[in-house]
Amino acid sequence: MKIMSVVGARPNFMKISPFVNAIMKHNQANGNDSAIEHYLVHTGQHYDVSMSEAFFNALNIPNPDISLEIGSGSHAEQVGRTMIEFEKVVKANKPDWVVVVGDVNATCACSIVAKKEHINLAHIESGLRSRDMNMPEEINRLVTDRLSDLLFTTDEIASMNLRMEGVPEVRIKFVGNIMIDTLMANKEKAQKLALKQIVSINALEDRSHNFNSNTKDYALITLHRPSNVDLPDVLGHLIDFFCDEVCNDMPIIWPIHPRTCKNLKTFGLWKKVVGTVNMVLLNPIGYHEMLRLNMGARLMLTDSGGLQEECCVLGTPCLTLRWNTERPVTLKEHGGVSVLVGNVIDRIRQTYNQTLQEKCRPMQPALWDGRTAERILRELILTSSSCKRTSP
Ligand code: UD1
Repeated sequence: MKIMSVVGARPNFMKISPFVNAIMKHNQANGNDSAIEHYLVHTGQHYDVSMSEAFFNALNIPNPDISLEIGSGSHAEQVGRTMIEFEKVVKANKPDWVVVVGDVNATCACSIVAKKEHINLAHIESGLRSRDMNMPEEINRLVTDRLSDLLFTTDEIASMNLRMEGVPEVRIKFVGNIMIDTLMANKEKAQKLALKQIVSINALEDRSHNFNSNTKDYALITLHRPSNVDLPDVLGHLIDFFCDEVCNDMPIIWPIHPRTCKNLKTFGLWKKVVGTVNMVLLNPIGYHEMLRLNMGARLMLTDSGGLQEECCVLGTPCLTLRWNTERPVTLKEHGGVSVLVGNVIDRIRQTYNQTLQEKCRPMQPALWDGRTAERILRELILTSSSCKRTSP
């Protein structure tokens, strides 16, 4: 069996790592007859060392077999360029399966190409729905799931979404959350990292002196969604809240996404952010560093989907700076730790004050057990052999 897996952007890397490992283990345990031929394609949507290569190194992901070097651009440019380049790769290699993960532009672009080339398509992290068509990721998820032959879901809510959309039951495989495989495999290593060192090595414009390493509590922030960082007013109010309120209570550690950094400067907000005592700005940080920061944080303020899930398993109270989520299983009403606070300051403030009274409360949804990649590979092998048996 020939499998071609695709990654493009930062959140894909922690999802592919356990899958690649599962294939390597399978090949070691089985003879040549049932060995899986695997190709890893990196579309290059994220290309900075800190957004890409650092994750390959930290998670021991082998170098990509094929790099498309698509780079930045508008959505149409990214998706279009990826499709053109990926089509060449698929035609040349003719895989039995294309495996895509998550919901970034690379996921959607490569799914369309695979199906147009009549290749079987498997989607890891299928069925998540925010029902917000302003999110590019929602469009990517809908297109990818509509085209996929095997749809691997993280939880029963996601499986139910797919059933409601008419996906045949045999294609839906509830396997758990592959990102939690990575978290479990790396937790111990992350725990050993020293907070002080993470801050001093990664500090942006040497803001490390803003961090008192003896401090017990700190808040962790990540922000990159266009709905939060592309409008000067919205971003400005968030900055006021972070700098004038949260920083009065405790230090904030904030690894900044390139897009957010650029906009803070464009909107004239940079000076305030770097001038605030207790605001510790970091460059984008590595996987283990982020995990360590999350493990020690008093609370998280984020618009990332993946971090919501990691907070859930680690128990870090999480204020999700969005109005909706495709990951409802992480919300408090489902037993998780996350609250949707949008980007209106009154609401954020109220939840923030409540959260300060709360303790760390880890929660493990069903099958978020570190063995998802194994289950995915088993299903792929089973489906492939039953396809062979039924084909004329
Ligand atoms: C993408 C994903 C988003 C994911 C996020 C994680 C889509 C639609 N969005 O958003 O789901 O949560 O990645 O980071 O696929 N840039 C760099 N260096 C890089 C990459 C990007 O400087 O290595 C800058 C460029 O100015 C670029 C901007 O960041 O234009 C945005 O990058 P892009 O890949 O378009 O989207 P993200 O906002 O990162």
